[in-house]
Amino acid sequence: MLQPLKRALGSAGMTWWPASWAMRMEVRAGSSAGAQPGKKQGLEKLSAKLAAGPTLQQFLRAASPPQEPPCELTEGLEEPVPYLVPSTLPEAGRKVYLETYGCQMNVNDTDIAWAILQKNGYLRTKSLEEADVILLVTCSIREKAEQAIWNRLQQLKALKSKRRRTQAPLRIGILGCMAERLKEKILHQERLVDIVAGPDAYRDLPRLLAVDADVLPVQTSLNATSAFVSVMRGCDNMCSYCIVPFTRGRERSRPIASILQEVKMLSDQGVKEVTLLGQNVNSFRDTSEVQFCSAAAPSLSRGFSTIYKAKPGGLRFSHLLDQVSRIDPEIRIRFTSSHPKDFPDEVLQLIQERHNICKQLHLPAQSGSTRILQAMRRGYTREAYLELVHHVRDSIPGVSLSSDFIAGFCGETEEDHQQTLSLLREVGYNVGFLFAYSMRQKTQAYHRLQDDVPAEVKHQRLKELISVFREEAARVNGALVGCTQLVLVEGPSKRSASELSGRNDGNMKVIIANRELEDRAAARAQPGDYVLVKITSASSQTLRGVLLRHTTLRESAVYC
Ligand code: 5AD
Ligand code: SF4
Repeated sequence: MLQPLKRALGSAGMTWWPASWAMRMEVRAGSSAGAQPGKKQGLEKLSAKLAAGPTLQQFLRAASPPQEPPCELTEGLEEPVPYLVPSTLPEAGRKVYLETYGCQMNVNDTDIAWAILQKNGYLRTKSLEEADVILLVTCSIREKAEQAIWNRLQQLKALKSKRRRTQAPLRIGILGCMAERLKEKILHQERLVDIVAGPDAYRDLPRLLAVDADVLPVQTSLNATSAFVSVMRGCDNMCSYCIVPFTRGRERSRPIASILQEVKMLSDQGVKEVTLLGQNVNSFRDTSEVQFCSAAAPSLSRGFSTIYKAKPGGLRFSHLLDQVSRIDPEIRIRFTSSHPKDFPDEVLQLIQERHNICKQLHLPAQSGSTRILQAMRRGYTREAYLELVHHVRDSIPGVSLSSDFIAGFCGETEEDHQQTLSLLREVGYNVGFLFAYSMRQKTQAYHRLQDDVPAEVKHQRLKELISVFREEAARVNGALVGCTQLVLVEGPSKRSASELSGRNDGNMKVIIANRELEDRAAARAQPGDYVLVKITSASSQTLRGVLLRHTTLRESAVYC
């Protein structure tokens, strides 16, 4: 059962900082060039306060359901080892190579792992050859993702055995979902890796590395324009195909106060876009501030249900969004990933009203067939989903929509597949993430359903989904040609140094000719600038346009 955080805290209402988040903030604070002295002092104070708080491990232990016993290497390491304090670990100057697979959560987890290692004296390297430690942050969501990691491990094993005797031994570690799912197999059967740490065990990395061997290393890749802020972890939805609830555990939300502090700090550093991150961000429920907890059950989107009982109490997503969007009118707010069940009217209204909350929603449909949606345990019908889409479009004019779809789920017939194609046509998404179904152990589908759609049929259906999605996206994006869009400049485009790349409010990539602005006084557009761009052409994935002028987020109303 999900244990309330306040029980672990012991004192209701106390401000509480998970150490992993704290450390991320320290890293960002430390690397903000040119920070003003006043601000710097403030940050130092804050960092000290954060460092004294409970650890991520404590948070996760308090909030997670009973887990399988930890793997051998982590046993006995949960409590600090008195003779092995960070400063005495033999890692100063050792180099770590981090490689990330899968979703944005993993990118964020890589930041966390890196922050922890950096704090313990590691350096970061981009070269496999010079690494003392190689850590792969892994993904388990589909078999293909895991296969890619097994292949990579074989290559790394070869690299390891090539190391000269005179060099320190190379250590290889697996972090993330695959580590959680396959810890025994990875460590003992395959003997390919030295360290295994699931998503809830990163804080132990320095000690795992120090105890298991004498390893070490570090470096950072901060993007000054955008940042991701973790607001919750885990998922309680138990969709029948999905392994996430087993690898990432139950839903637990971060206290709003600490999220706001982090966003404030990012704002002080000049970040212009913040994406609130979690498996199900809009199921957010902070129960740490007991005095503000309402007893009311949350309202779901019309026609949607959950397999779990309504969870009353706590500060909900609309409250979080409201508070975050008040911090800095020049910071764009996005969130991902979301579940369509958690879009009550107050959330939609807030998105519509606030100029700095992007009019962009991820509404993962997964299938267009009610029969398959039921087998997937999604908690809605095709009709309820479409009603939500219409309601969202009425409430937020011009909203940009994205979705996830799975081709070839258990029992999917040609007729079901046609229903999915017709949903894609009916909605017309701007962005889509389309996958062939892959059966995962532990899931409800694995135990109760037959993976009976042949691989060739799955892939043929996937191709058809991709082609219809592209047609529709090209049509939807084509409607923007001739419009003026507000674009946040991210940097030079990958293809040509003479062009800039940025994103519009709908999160669509926009390529802009990087020419001097007509207003000579204005500087060349820089990463982090908001500019107005007249769209001249569009494809299913990119918009192109010409730069009109600099602007601000506040000043930008709807231009089309
Ligand atoms: N097979 C294929 N796709 C899956 N997803 C989740 N589990 C599976 C699976 N077993 C997809 C869903 C989800 C996205 C993150 O990954 O579409 O929304
Ligand atoms: Fe997986 Fe469903 Fe949770 Fe998304 S909502 S992470 S698909 S169980």
